[in-house]
Amino acid sequence: MSNYHIKHLEEYWQVYRKSVRNPAVFWEEIAEEHFLWRKKWDEVLSWDFSKPEIKWFAGAKLNITENCLDRHLATRADKTAILFEPNDPKEEAQHITYQELHARVCRFANVLADQGVGKGDRVCIYLPMVPKLAVSLLACARLGAVHSVVFAGFSATALATRINDCNCKLVICSDGSYRGKKTIDLKTIVDEALEQCPGVETSLVVKRTGGAVVMKDGRDKWLQPLLDKAATTRAATIVDAEDPLFILYTSGSTGKPKGMVHTTGGYMVYTAYTFKNAFQYREEDVYWCTADIGWITGHSYIVYGPLTNGATTVMFEGVPSYPDYGRFWEIVEKHKITQFYTAPTAIRALAKENLDFVENHDLSSLKVLGTVGEPINEEAWHWYNDHVGKKKSPIIDTWWQTETGGIMISPIPYSTPTIPTFATLPMPGIQPVLMDENGKEIEGNSVEGRLAIKFPWPSIARTIYGNHERYRDTYFSAYPGNYFTGDGALRDAVGYYRITGRVDDVIIVSGHNLGTAPIEDAINEHPAVAESAIVGFPHDIKGNALYGYVTLKETGETRNHDNLRKEINQLITDRIGPIAKLDKIQFTEGLPKTRSGKIMRRILRKIAGKDTSNLGDISTLLNPEVVQDIMDKSLA
Ligand code: WT7
Repeated sequence: MSNYHIKHLEEYWQVYRKSVRNPAVFWEEIAEEHFLWRKKWDEVLSWDFSKPEIKWFAGAKLNITENCLDRHLATRADKTAILFEPNDPKEEAQHITYQELHARVCRFANVLADQGVGKGDRVCIYLPMVPKLAVSLLACARLGAVHSVVFAGFSATALATRINDCNCKLVICSDGSYRGKKTIDLKTIVDEALEQCPGVETSLVVKRTGGAVVMKDGRDKWLQPLLDKAATTRAATIVDAEDPLFILYTSGSTGKPKGMVHTTGGYMVYTAYTFKNAFQYREEDVYWCTADIGWITGHSYIVYGPLTNGATTVMFEGVPSYPDYGRFWEIVEKHKITQFYTAPTAIRALAKENLDFVENHDLSSLKVLGTVGEPINEEAWHWYNDHVGKKKSPIIDTWWQTETGGIMISPIPYSTPTIPTFATLPMPGIQPVLMDENGKEIEGNSVEGRLAIKFPWPSIARTIYGNHERYRDTYFSAYPGNYFTGDGALRDAVGYYRITGRVDDVIIVSGHNLGTAPIEDAINEHPAVAESAIVGFPHDIKGNALYGYVTLKETGETRNHDNLRKEINQLITDRIGPIAKLDKIQFTEGLPKTRSGKIMRRILRKIAGKDTSNLGDISTLLNPEVVQDIMDKSLA
């Protein structure tokens, strides 16, 4: 039996039972056999969810890039590590071998070191999906520096908040980016952000579009000339297993974004292990995850998981609709993709288009199809299964979170029988529990509750940067002794899990995690706005879309409502990014509130979702009369 590569269901159960019986022994065996450590650990695991404090492989020394790169040079030097597919299909794809990637990472690390970056320093990365994005993560890790990647669709304000929160002194950015037909001037956004970031001393600029940019003297430097002068080797800085590898921001239901801190050893072991098993990865495979490296999916399953396994990982710069809706399938055919990992929102968007876009391509190389980011509806699941997988490739519906670092609940393809909309069974080492409203564990099968995890796994985030108390309050206070996920789930008769969605004020739009509070804050900045409340409502393609209820300061506001709507969405775009724009904005006389003044989002959610049959008891509200008025003028 191999703990590292599960090949059938019976084996899954054997491995699973072992992983739960003695997690430290289980993970130690995996860590021993499959990685390069400069020094082994003193203790596999110590933990206390009440503090909370979690340590895996404490005392061990390593560098993750030696595991992603150096270790493979003896056997895989000429194998493609990164296969880059540009936005424009006429531009040639790039095959970057392990040897070449090693040299590029060392070069980049030398440049960063020359700019004063060292162990523990935070570096912000704001780049499109070009190879230098992956290289910059690895270059930071080579030096023991902590990367903080900000998705290059975020606005200047959102970028500045993230740069300042963890005091980055260096930013890696580009002149611009290509997205389908559009060219975006990213440097302008960075310039605007840096006006609010006094701590940033240097920005290194990658040339991608060749568009005009303003280079600020003393601060902005073109990267390429520095790389050209740098040496192609660099000894890895050896770090402790529990030293931070990166910070990645995720939205909370309240307050500013949370900088989730992931550490090195446990994260490496868990992402490598889950990559191998959830995708049934084999040496000759060509693996493609369509996510952006700006999200955790890209960190764990474009960069670290695949590279620690010596895999070929595809990076795609473009969008599924350019030059037409066949682009994904054209790429699958062109590079003979074996594992394809995407988001339900992308599947729903493509399923709306002509079937010829799929059928015109040879997809016979595919062996495993994955989804992530939100629940997949049954219709999209079947379309994916029938037309992409031709009913031959198992679909793995992988549930996990920025905070979990790696895939938590997922079928093992070719082992776990799949059912549409079910993430099915926990990965080895993962102990999910369902909780009732009173914080009691719900045992047995055919039950539904709130999803928590009762035992640590190696890649759990260790804290929120600069705010450990918030980390404890958010994840460990609802159900003491357990990590609370924020999701609801059911467990069916055979013990399969189905994730039913968020139970807090986080809304998942097109697979992006959005908190209501920062969006409401942005809207409330508008001079005409008194108050606002955001809820999600079901949307064909996005899964959820945003519905905003807005009250204006002066009743009988005479300004044109359509103009106000545009201004509100522009504010949201400026403060957060276009992904947070509202689909519907209803101006209301008031918002339903409890007597203590809390906005009753539950009622607004029902109205926005056209589900007003049972609004519950509204008579106890402070202002029950507004409910009827809101229903009468509903845009739903
Ligand atoms: C939230 C986490 C993990 C990478 C992308 C999202 C939702 C994620 C699934 C799934 C149903 C899912 C959950 C979770 N989610 N995967 N397979 N089925 N819901 O990471 O931005 O941290 O969001 O995404 O609600 O809590 P994230």
